[in-house]
Amino acid sequence: MRVAIFGTGYVGLVTGTCLAEVGHDVVCVDIDQAKVDGLGRGIIPIYEPGLEPMVKANHAAGRLAFTTDAAAGIAHGQVVFIAVGTPPDEDGSADLQYVLAVARTIGRHLTQPMVVVNKSTVPVGTADKVRAAIAEALAARGEEITFDVVSNPEFLKEGDAVADCMRPDRIVIGASNPEAVAVLRRLYAPFNRNRDRVVEMDVRSAELTKYAANAMLATKISFMNEIANIAERVGADIEQVRQGIGSDPRIGWHFIYPGAGYGGSCFPKDVQALARTASQYGHQPHLLDAVEAVNNAQKGHLFALIQRHYDRGEDEGVRGKTFAVWGLAFKPNTDDMRAAPSRRLLEQLWEGGAIARVYDPEAMNEARRIFGEREDLVFCDSAYEALDGADALVVVTEWKQFRSPDFERLRKALGDAVVFDGRNIYEPQEIEAAGLAYYGIGRGRSLHA
Ligand code: UDX
Repeated sequence: MRVAIFGTGYVGLVTGTCLAEVGHDVVCVDIDQAKVDGLGRGIIPIYEPGLEPMVKANHAAGRLAFTTDAAAGIAHGQVVFIAVGTPPDEDGSADLQYVLAVARTIGRHLTQPMVVVNKSTVPVGTADKVRAAIAEALAARGEEITFDVVSNPEFLKEGDAVADCMRPDRIVIGASNPEAVAVLRRLYAPFNRNRDRVVEMDVRSAELTKYAANAMLATKISFMNEIANIAERVGADIEQVRQGIGSDPRIGWHFIYPGAGYGGSCFPKDVQALARTASQYGHQPHLLDAVEAVNNAQKGHLFALIQRHYDRGEDEGVRGKTFAVWGLAFKPNTDDMRAAPSRRLLEQLWEGGAIARVYDPEAMNEARRIFGEREDLVFCDSAYEALDGADALVVVTEWKQFRSPDFERLRKALGDAVVFDGRNIYEPQEIEAAGLAYYGIGRGRSLHA
């Protein structure tokens, strides 16, 4: 089938590439000329495992094109996806200006019947607004061309985006017209072979499904962070508690890892946006508000542990101390630092007068872009280089390469011989046996050490 995709961010680029990979003829449209030119030459603006070779191969095979020409994209497609960003506006609601601008563009250039697919995460009711914007632009031209607006939210995870897209666990299609559902079923047929993954529903339910999924996952994380904070105080170990509850299939093993707080482009923004929608419709979202509040507090927790350690000794808090910081991205396998806990930690370290020596396997350029040059920040080329002259180590992102360091080397390198493990990737006993002090999240025993 012929497909046009507006927006070459995470969702648009991955979706377009995967659709091309299974044989569809895809044109990706973006307003950013430099990005479009780069993509045409195989320069991928984001780090996503497996994406680059797939973009290059499909581009070379002529199934994946990039353009800034919206009219050409719309003329090309039987289906057009809207996959542009929905950043939070000042009050936390999703800002729909980019989505609606694409809708108007579609209305201005539509020449043939079309299925318009909302892939961006958008508040309930957005499909109606998109429909109205297209209809208005068509009417201004005096045209009557039939079109459908379908909600087909994306559930891909950064770092696993290509795999998630190629092997979706569900394909949610929210539509009011069975013919539009049939078109999307045909489009997704290559991803839907051995069992039917399509879940059909009405448009508003599909829009809410996306928020419900993200809010549920965020809730699990905040819940575990809260229990971790309790564990820390009562002298229990959250890692043992996690083992103790995960085996119950009603709870499950996924998303019950306590840590430095959730970040990224989805959870913080979507929990907030859903809470805003709830309020707008007259419902007080107590639970969602708490999920967000717990997460905000959690992002400061790692620093609170650090402070507690340094306030106990002869030191003047963290002033003058140097911290090796391992991991800057909001999670492993991505260079994304949006709403990353590392950002809060660094700000708090700097406010306290400390110096940070940072290393992340992928996010160094992003960190340079965000922080620029400053005296209290040293960019390092490796995890061990970050330890040179450092007093303590803070692990903020659980990259695989940080999981089994040479603890002996850590002890020799770190002036104060202390490790703050924001992701509970180490065994306290192992670290302590090497002569280092250990702090984890929710590990009561380290509080009493
Ligand atoms: C998420 C959803 O998983 C995805 O389905 C949706 O489409 C977009 O949002 P993503 O933002 O890429 O994907 O990251 P995810 O892997 O879900 O992690 C989100 C955050 O939660 C990370 O900061 C991670 O460190 C944190 N997390 C996750 C925990 O703190 N504990 C856990 O147990 C799991």
